[in-house]
Amino acid sequence: MKKISFLSLLFSAFFLVIISCDQKPPKNSRVAQAMRGKALFMEKCVQCHGEDGKGLKLDTLATQPADLTEIMWNRRVKEFPILEIANIIDGRKMAEAHGTRAMPIWGEVFAKEEYLDEKEIKGKMAELIAYLMSIQGS
Ligand code: HEC
Repeated sequence: MKKISFLSLLFSAFFLVIISCDQKPPKNSRVAQAMRGKALFMEKCVQCHGEDGKGLKLDTLATQPADLTEIMWNRRVKEFPILEIANIIDGRKMAEAHGTRAMPIWGEVFAKEEYLDEKEIKGKMAELIAYLMSIQGS
């Protein structure tokens, strides 16, 4: 008897694992990455770029937030300019050229306020970009 109940326990545990795995895309797939990027976007970017990413009209800013669904269209490119956009979001390499910019320098925020290292910051950028790629032309 004991053996049977142990086995059934093992089986139910096994099926629980299968079911819970089934609901999420594999951890490092593009979809999973874009989902984490969306969560980050909803936390840090919506107040200027809006929930749909198209940009809010804000009197408080001298430059209006860009429409992030038209990144490729505005540049007339067929491939998403990953490096350029990563640099714009990160902002640490651009700070000098642009002087004051309306958007926070996210690389600095992640490094100095959230204490992320360079690898983790790259990960955040990759997540945000995966999300931005998924909303192009939407
Ligand atoms: C305080 C308002 C504000 C917040 C918050 C903000 N942005 Fe921006 N963003 C702007 C403004 C304004 C621009 C237009 C360019 C500039 O900075 O002058 C812009 C431009 C951009 C661009 C360039 C688009 C292009 O086509 O060149 C990207 C990409 C971008 N933002 C991504 C993000 C992401 C990702 C977040 C969240 C992590 C974010 N922004 C949060 C205000 C903001």
